[in-house]
Amino acid sequence: MIQVEKLTKYYGEYAAIEDVSFAVEKGEIVGFLGPNAAGKTTTMRILTGFLQPTSGKARVAGYDVVTQSLDARRRTGYLPENVPLYDDMTPRHYLRFAARINGVEGRQVNKRVEEVMEATGVTDHADVLISKLSKGYRQRVGIAQALIHNPDVLVLDEPTVGLDPNQIQEIRQLIKGLAGDHTIILSTHILREVEMLCERVVIIREGHVAAMDTPENLARSRAGAQQVKLVVRGPEREVQAKLAALPGVLRVQTAHSADGVVELEVEGEQKRDVRETLAAAVVSNGWGLQHLSEARVDLERIFREITLEEKGVAA
Ligand SMILES: Nc1ncnc2c1ncn2[C@@H]1O[C@H](COP(=O)(O)OP(=O)(O)OP(=O)(O)O)[C@@H](O)[C@H]1O
Ligand SMILES: [Mg+2]
Repeated sequence: MIQVEKLTKYYGEYAAIEDVSFAVEKGEIVGFLGPNAAGKTTTMRILTGFLQPTSGKARVAGYDVVTQSLDARRRTGYLPENVPLYDDMTPRHYLRFAARINGVEGRQVNKRVEEVMEATGVTDHADVLISKLSKGYRQRVGIAQALIHNPDVLVLDEPTVGLDPNQIQEIRQLIKGLAGDHTIILSTHILREVEMLCERVVIIREGHVAAMDTPENLARSRAGAQQVKLVVRGPEREVQAKLAALPGVLRVQTAHSADGVVELEVEGEQKRDVRETLAAAVVSNGWGLQHLSEARVDLERIFREITLEEKGVAA
């Protein structure tokens, strides 16, 4: 649904993005992750026809964003970084206006406006001046405006920035509900957001794609080892020594030990799941297995590693 090929944008001598390539399949939600100035907004503005690329190509819903800009834009909804709302309009009036400029057929306008207000939870503030709305409601109106012409593709530039935790939760639910019917690319700095919402992540750094995968695969392929947490009732030294000698186990460390119960952190070889080996060893030694789990994917660390790596050694 979205194809980006070697997209490059220069501002004067400065390359804001260079050779950026990725694709988003129909119905997918993809997170566009990167530090400040990485080039997220630049890429999104090109995708939505607001900016011309210096070179490279992008297609949205099969249409080239430069040579078939109008067709591409008809199928794209865009929530910009700073939503240009009209303060002296109400959401209802503003959305009617947005419907008309986005080519919604005259007779459909009112119906469509009511639908998107319902979908974004704006209906109860439909007739309040936009200048009097909270940031969260303004953001909802921004998303409603992006949805007004029922586009195939949604481009959301930091949709939850500046919202309080409750509003963030609500907007995330809203976006999640839109996936499937719509293909979504959203930019964010929030790792949790990507984990919660996105099937795949494109990590961009200094204008280049540094990594692209599911959050789980990214973590697994870069962690270098499997991390397992284990709680065993048994003699600490013996437990530690025997587990450390198992095939595939790289390292065993005691995190805590009291009353004959040992809490251990085990590192296993990459691409080898050592959980069953550990469980079998504990049981066959006659110890008690109280807990065994794989440590949670630390996407935060992966993100720091990828974005702080030296330029040129992209994964
Ligand atoms: N109109 C412009 N003229 C010159 N440079 C620009 C312009 N717009 C953006 N840039 C530069 O291009 C680079 C990428 O900016 P962009 O806004 O795409 O980053 P971003 O990833 O969206 O960052 P943020 O997370 O802060 O929103 C930055 O170094 C920025 O200063
Ligand atoms: Mg930006």
